[in-house]
Amino acid sequence: MSFKEIPTKSLMFNPFSMIEDDWFLITAEYDGKTSTMTAASGALGHMFRKNVAYINIRPTRYTKSFVDQAGEFSLSFFKNTPENKKILGYLGNTSGRDENKIERCGLTLNKHDGIPYFEEAHTVFLCRNLYCSPYKETDFVNKQTESDYYPLKDYHDMYIADIFRTLVPA
Ligand SMILES: Cc1cc2nc3c(=O)[nH]c(=O)nc-3n(C[C@H](O)[C@H](O)[C@H](O)COP(=O)(O)O)c2cc1C
Repeated sequence: MSFKEIPTKSLMFNPFSMIEDDWFLITAEYDGKTSTMTAASGALGHMFRKNVAYINIRPTRYTKSFVDQAGEFSLSFFKNTPENKKILGYLGNTSGRDENKIERCGLTLNKHDGIPYFEEAHTVFLCRNLYCSPYKETDFVNKQTESDYYPLKDYHDMYIADIFRTLVPA
């Protein structure tokens, strides 16, 4: 399937349900290898005079080193169907360290501007990393949020990335 570029600001969607309920895949390629992982936290908005995505990746994720080394990655958003939930559940519960989950998951990998994304997505953001910083215990203004969300102190790194291209099925 071919994808076409559209202006990011022409999108009409609910980012809250798209992130929390539908989930998405963070995918990057480095040194000829591709890695992907499911995410269900983040934000979309405007920062540094750019359209941006905020995403969160724990240092333990195999995909993190791909994102960090490539500097560019895609965010692929899918319809909330039982079949997609099963696939994204698999990609979010298995590490690419342990098996070739991209080959096994049944999704179709494609590339745009050299960045891998999945053809079954309804919306794809091609992103360039701008900023990355770990959440710190001492920076939580609301200590209850910190202890509720990070009982194991396994803080994410927070990324702010420029959405430099938005793709939808042609
Ligand atoms: C619904 C869902 C949402 C997730 N959200 C995130 C997230 O925002 N950040 C994160 O680091 N891991 C998140 N994960 C966990 C990773 O997707 C999971 O650890 C995955 O196996 C990592 O794969 P990798 O080691 O191949 O990179 C999520 C998992 C699921 C199922």
